[in-house]
Amino acid sequence: MTGSSIEIRGPRLLLRALRDSEIDEEWQAMVEADPMVIPALPDESAFRARLGRSGRLVDGELDLAVDLDGALLGRIQTFVPPGRPLPPGTFDVGIGLREHARGQGHGREALTLLTGWLFEHAAAEIVEGATDPANAAMRAVFQRAGWTLAGSATEFGREWAVYRITREDWRAQSPGAASP
Ligand SMILES: CC(C)(COP(=O)(O)OP(=O)(O)OC[C@H]1O[C@@H](n2cnc3c(N)ncnc32)[C@H](O)[C@@H]1OP(=O)(O)O)[C@@H](O)C(=O)NCCC(=O)NCCS
Repeated sequence: MTGSSIEIRGPRLLLRALRDSEIDEEWQAMVEADPMVIPALPDESAFRARLGRSGRLVDGELDLAVDLDGALLGRIQTFVPPGRPLPPGTFDVGIGLREHARGQGHGREALTLLTGWLFEHAAAEIVEGATDPANAAMRAVFQRAGWTLAGSATEFGREWAVYRITREDWRAQSPGAASP
């Protein structure tokens, strides 16, 4: 799985590796992000190195560009929270779209595509995501994508609403999904 670059196609979007030329743009988006949506600004060189590996799932971490007709709308990723290794089969997901690309269904499509890929191709059993309780857009996307509110958690000195979808939930919602 680490050899080839992952591409996930949906009705409108393509999730693909970031191009080298897009990494500056992604760093700038992190620097300018609303503090509500990121726990803390990451170390720049670690962030750039990580995006240099995009398109490959390495130790539970995968970064993909959200692409609409060749244009970069933002990024979706799985990540391992610092100091909280995840059990096998559990993935944590995050997403950020540029302002102009929000509110048009792209967040929901991207989340559904990545989640389906994790269950189908990466032996996921549980896919989780956390958001600021005040982030109405992200909460709506989780709900509309069939995730369940699992509770709240305190991490990075803040409270987060934690959402989750299990393999069973996903299979129940995806009639074409392969049996395990
Ligand atoms: C959060 C984010 C990924 C959502 O993606 P999006 O493309 O804007 O959302 P969608 O257009 O797919 O919306 C999906 C559903 O959420 C609803 N929704 C979208 N924005 C909303 C808002 N601000 N308030 C309430 N509901 C909202 C939509 O109406 C839609 O519901 P519907 O299917 O019933 O119509 C995107 O807005 C974003 O990148 N925001 C900034 C970064 C961020 O907050 N990332 C998450 C950090 S945890």
